[in-house]
Amino acid sequence: MRTQVAIIGAGPAGLLLGQLLHKHGIDNIVLERHTGEYVLSRIRAGVIEQVAVDLIDEAGVGARMHREGLVHDGTQICVDGVRHRIDFKELTGKTVMVYGQTEITKDLMDGRAAAGAQTVYTAEDVALHDIFADQPRVTYRADGKVHEIECDFIAGCDGFHGISRQSVPADAISSYERVYPFGWLGLLSDTPPVSEELIYVRHRHGFALCSMRSPTRSRYYIQCSLAEDVHAWPDERFWDALKPRLDAQARERIVTGPSIEKSIAPLRSFVGEPMRFGRLLLAGDASHIVPPTGAKGLNLAASDVRYLSEALLEHYQEKSAAGLDHYSARALARVWKAERFSWWMTMLLHTFPDSMFDRKMQLAELDYLFGSRAAATAFAENYVGLPF
Ligand code: APR
Ligand code: PHB
Repeated sequence: MRTQVAIIGAGPAGLLLGQLLHKHGIDNIVLERHTGEYVLSRIRAGVIEQVAVDLIDEAGVGARMHREGLVHDGTQICVDGVRHRIDFKELTGKTVMVYGQTEITKDLMDGRAAAGAQTVYTAEDVALHDIFADQPRVTYRADGKVHEIECDFIAGCDGFHGISRQSVPADAISSYERVYPFGWLGLLSDTPPVSEELIYVRHRHGFALCSMRSPTRSRYYIQCSLAEDVHAWPDERFWDALKPRLDAQARERIVTGPSIEKSIAPLRSFVGEPMRFGRLLLAGDASHIVPPTGAKGLNLAASDVRYLSEALLEHYQEKSAAGLDHYSARALARVWKAERFSWWMTMLLHTFPDSMFDRKMQLAELDYLFGSRAAATAFAENYVGLPF
């Protein structure tokens, strides 16, 4: 088989790249290790920056997001039982879209199927070959047979545990990492959200987040120890741990109900540099991870894909290597700023073991955030997404 761009991974990064390339007549094949149903069963964050909304529109798959998504002008931050509000629209003129990333993945899958572009699901043993040569290759196993794809470029969009980054010689990549000493226990339920806006909660018992997917579906999180087992958390125990972290009004209003999903996610910051290795280009979680505080994961994948699709267009349409040569530096400049913001928000709102000094710093920082228009504007412009 032959294609122009072989894309590894059918998450948001791979599918969005495939859709944008297809729209511009660049042939691509997506190889995914799991089934489509499995990919759609993963619950991810749900806040989309305006620049990512624009890119999803450009890819032609934004219609349902605009119909069902909720536009939010601000967010709330509750500190030890007292709620504050940051007004994005007033401070930056911008808003965010609350719409599940799982739904975006579904819209992208539907768009890809409608376009007739090829996706190979349950591709086993995907392997990358000759990434530093002019004609790299990808092999995989399906239906008991080994298949080979010859291509011009490989886009590694296969997430943090994917094969693409692991295929790079160890001395060609520098990794930077911070692992946090806690996780998030998340619960999805068909109950109305407690508030019209998200509430990020800082409390001495630990962080909490009240989020939503729709006017009838809520997503809640609480900070938990990494040693927790999700099976030790029946729904009642979750609600009982969440409620005391909220303010009195939220505690009164919250509607609890049976969970439809519950899972624990660890928190990690990670960046691998650079993002290009010969004809292998990494995008999304394959290259960097952020903790979920601030919901930058998909948004960063979208900005990588924007830079990468522009670079590939320049290569094919203008016969220019400039975009590809600059891809890594351009993408990483935005990646590091989002890494900084999600690290900062994580440090600001979580309870860290045994550090009274850090706790005092958090309270001083929060006091500054709520008391200074400059500080609130800095928060808002990072939250709604920095410009490209
Ligand atoms: N071969 C083929 N596919 C693979 C392989 C492999 N060896 N390893 C992983 N994959 C697939 C995974 O099964 C997954 O479907 O690559 C896909 C990667 O998808 P994500 O992990 O969602 O990563 P990405 O597309 O970069 O997502 C970016 O969007 O939904 C958010 O929180 C998510 O932060 C993430 C962001
Ligand atoms: C979510 O809705 O799942 C969500 C929202 C905001 C975050 C993280 C997760 O910062």
